[in-house]
Amino acid sequence: MDPLKTLADDPDLLMEYWDEKPLLTTVTRDFSDILDLKEIESMLSRGVPERSLRVFEDGSAAERGGIFHPRERGGRTRERVATASGLAEVLSSGCTVLLEEVQTFSPGVARFADEFTRATGFETYCVVFITPPGHSGVKLHYDVDSVFLLQLHGSKSWRLHAPTAPYPLRQTVLECTTEPVLETDLDEGECLYIPRGYWHAGTARGSASVHLSIGVRTRAWLPEVLRELERRAGADPELRRSLTPHPAQDDRDDSHLFDRLTALVREIPSPRATARQLSRPAPHGWLGAAIGERRAAA
Ligand SMILES: [Fe+2]
Repeated sequence: MDPLKTLADDPDLLMEYWDEKPLLTTVTRDFSDILDLKEIESMLSRGVPERSLRVFEDGSAAERGGIFHPRERGGRTRERVATASGLAEVLSSGCTVLLEEVQTFSPGVARFADEFTRATGFETYCVVFITPPGHSGVKLHYDVDSVFLLQLHGSKSWRLHAPTAPYPLRQTVLECTTEPVLETDLDEGECLYIPRGYWHAGTARGSASVHLSIGVRTRAWLPEVLRELERRAGADPELRRSLTPHPAQDDRDDSHLFDRLTALVREIPSPRATARQLSRPAPHGWLGAAIGERRAAA
């Protein structure tokens, strides 16, 4: 199934809104083949590594070192993992818990992330947010990647403001100076698309809220072209030559280098045309190929 149909009522409409405007689904769907509460509990009970968990209190990151204990094995740099009782305690104290890299713990999320990358050419990162009733998750902020929020349990009220600077590549703007453009409840089975740059903050109301955030790694025109230009230009020894210690006194004519660079720019294929080919999930069967196993004859 087209993963975009899971994330939007109409994938064509989503393409119109892509990078520009938030979009909320109107038809409730069942996300349980991707992830559900039971599986989240199971993942958390198995002991999540410290690096994959974050805790927020009143909208800001909070230190909760006490909920971790060292793995049984692992030598001097023993990794610490969260305890279920510690997590239950921070949740009941009103904190929001973030489980990052969910695709590494959940086969359903990994499968969906692969399908999304195959369909769009964009890689993703997936995070679960668990917010107790009456509490906010993360304070008003914007991301440099667009996200899809899949409400798995309960509901959350969201407030979105237009970007202060559209299409951000880095988080450089510190203040939200725009008016709210959308205030909505996201209920179980609904999905909200938030384009990069939109300020957003959510609060769980009557019940606890659990949502899966699927972040779409931004691939913008300029960085794609610059990366390709650097790759091609870097292969030219003349362009790699050092400047002299006193560049201001170096009057050698370098206009031919600019000409060479311009010619290279003109040879770069449009990233718009090649977007889908540039990012691909690992093909099925890569492990067998890597260890030299032949596929069984059909
Ligand atoms: Fe965010």
